[in-house]
Amino acid sequence: MAKLGVTLAGLELRNPILSASGTFGHGLEMQHFAPPGLLGGLVSKTVTLAPRPGNPNPRICETEAGLLNSIGLENRGIDYYLREIAPTLRAAECVIVTNIGGERVEDFAELAARLDAESAVDALEVNLSCPNVQGGKLPFATDPKTAEAVLRGVRAATRKPLFAKLSPNVTDIGEIARAVEAGGADAVTAVNTLLGMAVDWRSGKPGINTVMGGYSGVAVKPVALRCAWQCVKAVSIPVIGCGGVGKAEDVLEFLAVGCRAVQVGTSCFSDPSHIARLPAEIDALLEAAGFHELAARIGILQAGGGAPSCKPGVAVKA
Ligand code: SIN
Repeated sequence: MAKLGVTLAGLELRNPILSASGTFGHGLEMQHFAPPGLLGGLVSKTVTLAPRPGNPNPRICETEAGLLNSIGLENRGIDYYLREIAPTLRAAECVIVTNIGGERVEDFAELAARLDAESAVDALEVNLSCPNVQGGKLPFATDPKTAEAVLRGVRAATRKPLFAKLSPNVTDIGEIARAVEAGGADAVTAVNTLLGMAVDWRSGKPGINTVMGGYSGVAVKPVALRCAWQCVKAVSIPVIGCGGVGKAEDVLEFLAVGCRAVQVGTSCFSDPSHIARLPAEIDALLEAAGFHELAARIGILQAGGGAPSCKPGVAVKA
C-alpha cells in the first residue's frame, strides 16, 4: 500500500479525496454509497444564514460534455444545519468541512461565528464563487478587495481552518488567491463552476431558468487544472483542486501541478460510490508506477520542459 495521507491546513486527511460542495448531500446522506471512513473529507452543500428555496426550475441541464446547474444555494439555513445536521456529523470518520455562503460581506463572518463552537465541523469553506446568485455577477470572487474583506471577517470570527473557494470566471485567479491568503485563508479551493448556458434552437428555451449557470464535469478539467496551477504559483497556502475530477489519474494530475488535495463533484451524480473507490485506484496506480508515497507526487510538474504527449499516460511512439 502506498501512503496516501496528506496534511491540509493543519488537518490530517487519510487520503486527498474530498467531496465537492453541492454534489454529495449536506452530511451523511451518501454514507451507504461511500463510507466516510474511506474518504479524506466531506464538504457540505452551502449553508446560508436564512433558508433559501433556490432558483426556479429547470435548474439542472445535462449538456454534451457536462452539467449546467443553477440551484441558487437552496438550503434550510444555519439554524437547521446546527440543530439537525451537525450533531449527526460528530461521529463521522473523516474531516468535515462546512461550506458557507452569503449575500453581504458580513453574512460570512456571522456564519463562521455561529459554526465556531460546533465540534463536528473541522473547517469552513468560504463560497465566494457561486455563479447562480446575485445575477451571476460574482461580487465576492471577482474583486480582490472584496474577497479579502470576506476572509478577514471570517478569520476574525473563527479559529477553524478556512478554505476559500474561488471562481474560474476571472482574468487573473492568482490575484484573487493572493487576496484571500492576505485575508487569512488557510487553503484555496480552485475552482467552482464555469459560467455557461444551453439553448434549444427549436423552442428558443434556455436549458436552465436563469439562462446562465455553472458548468461542470469532465470537460472543465483542463481549465480547472490551469486555475489550480496558477493558484499554486501565486500563494504559499495549500491549494485544493476541483473541476472535472472523475478518475484516479485526474487526482494525480491535480497533485502533479501542486494541489495538496482534490474535490470530486459532478462525477458523484452519475456514480456516488466511485469516490470511495478512488483511494484504492490511486494506490494501484502509484504502486504500478513504483511510487510508494502520494505526498511525494505533489508539485512534480516540470513546467519548463515539453510534455512527451498531450494525453497524459499515453507514451509517444518512437
Ligand atoms: C448553486 O447552489 O447554485 C451552486 C453552488 C455553487 O456553485 O457554489
